[in-house]
Amino acid sequence: WLIFGGGALVLFLLILGFGAFYLGTHPQSHGVTIDPENVEANEAFERENLGLTQVDDDRYIVNIVASTFSYDLGDDGEGNAVSHIEIPKGSTVLFQAVTTDVIHGLNIAGTNVNMMVEPGYISSLEVELNQTGEFTLVCNEYCGVGHHMMFATVEVV
Ligand code: CUA
Repeated sequence: WLIFGGGALVLFLLILGFGAFYLGTHPQSHGVTIDPENVEANEAFERENLGLTQVDDDRYIVNIVASTFSYDLGDDGEGNAVSHIEIPKGSTVLFQAVTTDVIHGLNIAGTNVNMMVEPGYISSLEVELNQTGEFTLVCNEYCGVGHHMMFATVEVV
């Protein structure tokens, strides 16, 4: 039984290693890398491109920079940080997020949006928002003393 147990462990580690190092499997980042110290080098994460952008009739992109302890969704044009975004019901929305420091979570409670945001990677997920209401975007990876302060709201109207 000891040999069976040890063999199973080795087999699982080999499968994990094959996926991680050979196939490059990584949670929702599709292998796209980014320098956490300089996320603005990627056009999507330049300050003026953060937050909600409409790209077509019913298509939107939301670019988010997470850092301890806030989500940067850009500003409203008057110098106020955006903490609430409104998206029309039935829209297809591509969420793209990066972190400038530690691992954060990005969960829009009540929807299918639930990602880890890891240093060095762009996490992205496309969803169709078909349910109206106000949803809370929260960090669901413990990231430090201000973890509970990381939130914003997404309203589907
Ligand atoms: Cu960011 Cu918890």
